[in-house]
Amino acid sequence: MKKNTGINLCMIGTGYVGLVSGACLAEMGNRVVCVDNNLEKIKMLQKGKMPIYEEGLEELVDKNVKSGRLFFASSIKEGMMHKGHRAEAVFIAVGTPPREDGSADLSAIEKVSREIAENMTDYTVIVEKSTVPVETCLWIEKTVTRHNKKNIPFDVCSNPEFLREGVAIEDFLNPDRIVIGVPSKKAEFVLKKVYSALSKYPMLVTDVKSAELIKHASNSFLSTKISFINAVANICERTGANVEDVARGMGLDKRIGPSFLKAGIGFGGFCFPKDLEAFYWLAKQKGYNFELLKNVKEINETQKMWIVEKVQQEMWNMEGKTVAFLGLAFKPLTDDMRFAPSTDIAKELIKRGARIRAYDPVSMENAKKSMKGIYFAKDAYDCVKGADCICLITEWKEFAELNFSRVLKLVNHPIMIDGRNLYDPDKMRTMGFTYISVGRK
Ligand code: UGA
Repeated sequence: MKKNTGINLCMIGTGYVGLVSGACLAEMGNRVVCVDNNLEKIKMLQKGKMPIYEEGLEELVDKNVKSGRLFFASSIKEGMMHKGHRAEAVFIAVGTPPREDGSADLSAIEKVSREIAENMTDYTVIVEKSTVPVETCLWIEKTVTRHNKKNIPFDVCSNPEFLREGVAIEDFLNPDRIVIGVPSKKAEFVLKKVYSALSKYPMLVTDVKSAELIKHASNSFLSTKISFINAVANICERTGANVEDVARGMGLDKRIGPSFLKAGIGFGGFCFPKDLEAFYWLAKQKGYNFELLKNVKEINETQKMWIVEKVQQEMWNMEGKTVAFLGLAFKPLTDDMRFAPSTDIAKELIKRGARIRAYDPVSMENAKKSMKGIYFAKDAYDCVKGADCICLITEWKEFAELNFSRVLKLVNHPIMIDGRNLYDPDKMRTMGFTYISVGRK
């Protein structure tokens, strides 16, 4: 990456998006001050400790702090004017959690917009990075204008992120595309400078509203792909076809593409479920009934219960039966338990009388906070001890490489329900497992 070739930036919010983006923007040669109003978090970061688990993040933060391109501060004022360096662009990456009705809570965005307005001293490009409904930038602009007592010139832009947890740094530094929604040439020039180190990747320059919509439309489309293939998996099960072959056959069509066609126990995480809801809600507010998104959500809810039904079919009576969960996180390489399918699955199995033993390589601490009435095992082998049935919930590499002869000696009954199609059905059956997977014979 280039050295100090970019500009002075302020990143507000050191959550997942803010921290990864801040570290990567520094790596790209910008001087970045990451700001958070949570003082504890800032102190932790200043000591080099990461508040989230993301592969390579600690090293990247450490490297850029040492190179003098990445800093942490606890106030927007300090972030926007840091040791004599004025931020030309201020990124907003604060939380937009879902409200009861599924709409996004944008109160944090309003608050920081006001503070940005109060601390601007010269032309500033305000960049919205959190996932927000279309027209949020318009509201930011109104808020900033209202509190911009000195009439400092500014522009509000949209620059959605497309990071996947677990491979976020890789995604940021090698993007499929960079999307910037800009209201002026001046703002476009500044953002192009911010991203100059990634000039070999496609950059799409649009109006602000289109950029805002691209994020929600992309996440909702990807969720639709997953629910579609999960629905197809159900048809495969009922007809004796194999969903992996069907997905391969579909994916070879360039118009469809092979990714996000992996059948499983449904999508989770803090993005897809939340964004799907928010997009549906937004469409409704604009007078359009986006019923498809409702169906995508319903298929996902049903798919989470697929594994519960399979356990029930194998166990007959659930009362007093022990079910081992291999994995808890919503996908591998993350400790994120938000909207993880494992939570709903465990709740339902417990309700039906089962006892749960669970193990996840990294999300145990987070899981302990959100899941009750579960035995958290020391490792995968401790987890399957005395199990009447094993459920593969998250496709971690270490579960693919288990010593199955050891597993077979530890379980009560060798029943494996593979919610992620991780294992080879023939091999599992040859070893002696009663093996059930998603949409495969
Ligand atoms: C997702 C998007 O992929 C990112 O582009 C986006 O930036 C991010 O949301 C966000 O909005 O911040 P992420 O939630 O980290 O990223 O996770 P994904 O890797 O997309 O997986 C989401 C869920 O879908 C997981 O539960 C995964 O197991 C499931 N999935 C994914 C499937 O069931 N099948 C597939 O084929 C792919």
